[in-house]
Amino acid sequence: MLIATAGTTSSGMIDPLHACAEIAEHERLWYHVDAAWGGGALASDRMRGLLSGIEHADSITIDAHKWLATTMGCAMFITTRGGVLSQAFHASTTFMPSSVAGIDPYLNSVQWSRRFLGLRLFLALGAAGWRGLGAHVERSIEVVERIKGLLLARGWQIVNESPLAVLNAVPPSALGDVRSLVRRVVASGRAWIAPAVFEGRDVVRVCATNGETTQRDVDELIAALHEPA
Ligand SMILES: Cc1ncc(COP(=O)(O)O)c(C=O)c1O
Repeated sequence: MLIATAGTTSSGMIDPLHACAEIAEHERLWYHVDAAWGGGALASDRMRGLLSGIEHADSITIDAHKWLATTMGCAMFITTRGGVLSQAFHASTTFMPSSVAGIDPYLNSVQWSRRFLGLRLFLALGAAGWRGLGAHVERSIEVVERIKGLLLARGWQIVNESPLAVLNAVPPSALGDVRSLVRRVVASGRAWIAPAVFEGRDVVRVCATNGETTQRDVDELIAALHEPA
C-alpha cells in the first residue's frame, strides 16, 4: 500500500499525488490518499487543482467535519473498489435481515450499529450546495492570507508554503519562545492556536477552517499574539 497525504495536519503540505500514483501503479500497490482535511479543497473550483492526481487513488479519506462545515464526526472513506470492503468485513448471520453487499453497512465496515452520520453532510450540502461549500473553503484561505499579511508586517516568518488554510509562523525573537507564546494566547481565551514542529523548528500553527471566523477574530488573534508577557 502507498499512502499520500493531501494536506498534512500541522502544515498543510500536499504530497506529489501524480508521482505517488505512478509509483503505486508501477509497484502494483493500493494507492490511498489521506485528504482528511485537505479534501475540503475539492469543493472549490478554484482550489480543486491543488489535489490533482487524487483521481488515481484506489481510496481516499475526507473528514467533512474538518473543512466541509459539519459537526464531529463525519468522516468519509471513498473507494473505487467497493468489492474489497465486502470481502474484508462481510459477516453473515441468520438474525440480520439482509445481506446486500454495498448497501448494508455491517457488510462493508467494522461497525454494525451506527447513527445516520451522513445526514450532517447531506444537510450542509442541502443548505449551501457545492458552490456554498466551495466559497466556505475559499473564504478560509482568504482569512489565513489576511493573518499571514498581518504577521509578516510585524516581523514574523511564515515557513510552510501551503496553499491551504494553515500557517506555520515563527515569531520575532522579542516575543519569546513558541511554546510559551502559544500557552499564553490559549490561556487568555482570546484565540486558539497550537504549537507545531516544521522541519525541526518550533512554529505557531494557525488554522482557519471555521466558516464563522470574522475579521474581529483575526484582529483579536493578532492582538493576543503581541500582548506583552
Ligand atoms: C491528515 C489527517 N489524517 C487523519 C486525521 C484523523 O482523522 P479522524 O479524526 O477522522 O480519525 C487527521 C486529523 O487531524 C488529519 O489531519
